[in-house]
Amino acid sequence: MESTEVETSSMPRIGDDAPDFDALTTHGNLKFSEFADGKWVILFSHPADFTPVCTTELSGFAERKQEFETLNTKLIGLSIDSIHSHLAWVNNVKEKTGVYLDFPIIADLDMKVAKLYGMLQPNESATAAVRAVFFIDPYQKIRLIMYYPLNVGRNMDEILRVLQGLQVSDEHKVALPLNWKKGDKVIVPPPKTLEQMEERIQDTSCEKIDFYLAKKELHLN
Ligand code: BEZ
Repeated sequence: MESTEVETSSMPRIGDDAPDFDALTTHGNLKFSEFADGKWVILFSHPADFTPVCTTELSGFAERKQEFETLNTKLIGLSIDSIHSHLAWVNNVKEKTGVYLDFPIIADLDMKVAKLYGMLQPNESATAAVRAVFFIDPYQKIRLIMYYPLNVGRNMDEILRVLQGLQVSDEHKVALPLNWKKGDKVIVPPPKTLEQMEERIQDTSCEKIDFYLAKKELHLN
């Protein structure tokens, strides 16, 4: 196998440690682990500056940055563009729309980070990153990954929904059903032994379809 094939096929998976890296960004040089600083991080890539879908997406992240902060989450973008291109694009978007892309955007001209995170998917594009979203928890584990192609923009409501879902699931040790959103009932983990199954059958505190599918209310702030 040629070395480029090996590099581009590096695909971190759910549960892996998030690979650490140094990068040049619109907020200066940073080391990813220091930037994360014990918070959740959304690391996302876009194919190119000064392109329409990417402009809508990065504006979407900026407009909802406060919601990410409320969820103890930092944002960091990436594309295979120069820092000069990033600065000019950020300035252009601000001038034209009033939206300020005020989170770091990595200038990954040597594709180092894109390859490290499997953002370069050569059968989609050999030179531009796909639309990837990595959800990284405070222990720097990758918890959820989204990949979108070049021609379809992401859904900010879904990004926020699953981020909140991961945090609710961690905190309350529950699972989340189809289309779950804040305020909906959550799934109580199914029993793992016959004894637990008998207890669940007797349990009247949750809404049961059967012993293995039980839901309960969660009162979240
Ligand atoms: C866009 O963001 O509009 C775009 C970027 C790269 C390829 C296709 C579309």
